[in-house]
Amino acid sequence: MDAERWWSTWAPLWDLIEDRHFGTRPTESLIDQIESDVLIIGAGQGLIVRYLAARGYHAVGLDINHSMVRISKEKHNLDMVEGDALHLPFKDQLFNTVVISSGVVDYGADKTAITAFIREAIRVCLRGGKIFIAFYRIPVSIEKIYKKIGVIDLDDVYHMKRIFEINEIAEKNPVRCATPIQKWTGKGMARVYFEWAIVGLTQPREFMAERKWINNIFEAGKEMGLTKQALIDSVPDTLPYRTKSSIEKLLGGIEIDYKEITEFDDCTVVTIDR
Ligand SMILES: C[S@@+](CC[C@H](N)C(=O)[O-])C[C@H]1O[C@@H](n2cnc3c(N)ncnc32)[C@H](O)[C@@H]1O
Repeated sequence: MDAERWWSTWAPLWDLIEDRHFGTRPTESLIDQIESDVLIIGAGQGLIVRYLAARGYHAVGLDINHSMVRISKEKHNLDMVEGDALHLPFKDQLFNTVVISSGVVDYGADKTAITAFIREAIRVCLRGGKIFIAFYRIPVSIEKIYKKIGVIDLDDVYHMKRIFEINEIAEKNPVRCATPIQKWTGKGMARVYFEWAIVGLTQPREFMAERKWINNIFEAGKEMGLTKQALIDSVPDTLPYRTKSSIEKLLGGIEIDYKEITEFDDCTVVTIDR
């Protein structure tokens, strides 16, 4: 999975993307548990760093992607460091709160990498501090549709690229979506038509808003000279879709003690007391 290509290609459009998954809403919900100094790992262009700084926190961001770090510095003059969550360039117990943003463990699919990310976050966190680890989650009403149409398959594999592919087909002729859905799900064609027709007839608000968001991104990309195809091509094909119970299982399997797992609308956050 080449997530690096995705981050780099989409970096110029990040203003439209960054407040999703571990964004400002979960941060606000956790604010009473966040103490300075804060490290955000996978900070992107620094939305959370800025959000916390505006509330008086000293927050430092770290991101592996050069374009993200460069743009965050150019646009917002932020305290951002280029580096890998696997080897944090900080000494032990430097931060009171450490956040591993969504989009970091989500791509470190194997247990060894995830263990290393978490161990590093624990190392740089002061004893008595807190570590938050965010996993992707999709709002329930959209998740239901994605499961029906095979964007999330029966093995909880999230085929992210299919979102953009199906949107493209739906924009031209929604009826033609039945063919890829049938291929992705293996369901009978009659059932596929029926279920897809229900989506079309009921037009769930969040799902339609998601489609509008995708089209806005493509429009913004076009203005910057980024073609739709280049954007779609860079989206990772698959990543694991981790539910609360699979996160529990994952953490149990790598012997990480945690305090709680909280489900927000579009991310799931694990809290560890250091
Ligand atoms: C979904 S984005 C973060 C979005 C976040 N809401 C924000 O503040 O903008 C995930 C970020 O994690 C970064 N990332 C992924 N793997 C990483 C790693 N191993 N070390 C550091 N950063 C990483 C990516 O470059 C990307 O910018």
